[in-house]
Amino acid sequence: MVSSFFIAVVAILWVTFDTTVTSQSSFLELEALLKTGWWNNTNLNMSSSCNWLGIACDEGGSVTKIDLRDNELKGSIPPEIGNFSKLTRLDLSYNYVSGELPISLARLTQLKELLLSNNHITGSIPLEI
Ligand SMILES: *[C@@H]1O[C@H](CO)[C@@H](O)[C@H](O)[C@H]1NC(C)=O
Ligand SMILES: *[C@@H]1O[C@H](CO)[C@@H](O)[C@H](O)[C@H]1NC(C)=O
Ligand SMILES: *[C@@H]1O[C@H](CO)[C@@H](O)[C@H](O)[C@H]1NC(C)=O
Repeated sequence: MVSSFFIAVVAILWVTFDTTVTSQSSFLELEALLKTGWWNNTNLNMSSSCNWLGIACDEGGSVTKIDLRDNELKGSIPPEIGNFSKLTRLDLSYNYVSGELPISLARLTQLKELLLSNNHITGSIPLEI
C-alpha cells in the first residue's frame, strides 16, 4: 500500500518534470526561430511556434521539421539550430540565406534531410557534419 503510493508520487513528479523540460526547450526554440526574422507575419502565435508556416512539431512541442522552401528568406542560419534536438528535416532551399553553416548543425543527430540549395551560403560544409 505504502510502496504503491510512493511509486504513484514518483510517477507524477516525473511527468511534471518531463513536461517542464519540454516546454522550456520549446520556448528556447521559439525564441531562436523568432530571431531569424524568417517569419514576417505579425500574427505569430507567441505561445507556440508549432503552427507557424512550415513548422511541424512532435507531441511534446519540439520542432521536428522546418520547411521554408522558396520564402524569400534572408539572413543566416543561427547557431541555436544545433539545439533543435528533434529536428529531422530542414528545407531552406530557394531563398537568399547567406553566411556560413553553423558547426552546431553537427549536433542534429536526428536530421535526415538538409536542403539548402539555391541560396547565398558561403564557406564550406563543416567537417563535423
Ligand atoms: C514573408 O513574406 C514574403 C513576401 O510577402 C512571403 O513570400 C513569405 O512567405 C513570408 N514568409 C513567412 C515565413 O511568413
Ligand atoms: C497558440 O498555440 C497554442 C498552443 O499550440 C494553442 O493552444 C492556441 O490555440 C494558439 N493560439 C492561436 C491564436 O492560434
Ligand atoms: C544550447 O543549449 C545549451 C544547453 O541548454 C546552452 O548552454 C547553449 O547556450 C545553447 N546554445 C545555443 C547556441 O543556443
